[in-house]
Amino acid sequence: MSIKILINGAFGRMGQMTVKTISTHPGFELVGQIGREYDLQKAIKDSHAQVVIDFTHPESVFNNAYAIIEAGAHPVIGTSGLTLEQIRTLQDKCARMKLGGIIAPNFSLGAILMMKYAKEIVKYIPHVEIIEMHHDNKVDSPSGTALHSAEILGNSLAATNQPLKASREIIPGARGATHHGIPIHAIRLPGFLAHQQIIFGHTGETLTLRHDSIDRQCFMPGVCLACEKVVKLEQLVYGLEEILE
Ligand SMILES: NC(=O)c1ccc[n+]([C@@H]2O[C@H](COP(=O)([O-])OP(=O)(O)OC[C@H]3O[C@@H](n4cnc5c(N)ncnc54)[C@H](OP(=O)(O)O)[C@@H]3O)[C@@H](O)[C@H]2O)c1
Repeated sequence: MSIKILINGAFGRMGQMTVKTISTHPGFELVGQIGREYDLQKAIKDSHAQVVIDFTHPESVFNNAYAIIEAGAHPVIGTSGLTLEQIRTLQDKCARMKLGGIIAPNFSLGAILMMKYAKEIVKYIPHVEIIEMHHDNKVDSPSGTALHSAEILGNSLAATNQPLKASREIIPGARGATHHGIPIHAIRLPGFLAHQQIIFGHTGETLTLRHDSIDRQCFMPGVCLACEKVVKLEQLVYGLEEILE
């Protein structure tokens, strides 16, 4: 039996690509495509959707995810902008309902592998910073991927990440923003899609992990995997890496 899937944010860049992917996948049935002007819970009820994919806007993502869970559908959340506190609230709600779902800051395999290996490297080289580059239409910064990477790195840090000498910012923001002790620098320019470097610094050497999304197609295998897995889960997981192995 195919899994019934509704796409929220279906008319946006990620939404359009996801519509194409889901509607041609033999294991899925696309039961709805909706956007800002629709009533999300009514659409879920009317379409009997089992899974709802959300690629909308950072300002609406928490309310959307909450509404999806309340309606008893499995959330597959790709939209950036959720805080850790909001993620915990959604996870508690799913746990109480024994409902599976995923919040994935990045659905691409390359980005997940970058984070996996960064987690190893930081144990040996604890001085690390992140540079992320995105297209100039991206509405939030830093990216969800940069935040998630900083959380993973910050939790694995063997030693302090601070430079040996304190430096004064002549212009506020020159050293980027800090999340979980990791500096993040965000670039927004035409020509980019979604890119990230994690740079490790050691005595007399640096090591750089770099990931480049050059086509939104790279997110689609991860989206499909998430849709297949969430219907078998009984909790809301954070990060595609949680369901990869
Ligand atoms: N997890 C990943 O791997 C991944 C990969 C790429 C992007 N993203 C994230 O996905 C999100 C969408 O990116 P995008 O490039 O597709 O953006 P986009 O092109 O702006 O598309 C967003 C769509 O959502 C609609 N929308 C806005 N608010 C809504 C609401 N409350 N309910 C329903 N629909 C709403 C927008 O409609 P209007 O045009 O009327 O505003 C638009 O059609 C962003 O947060 C981005 O960072 C995640």
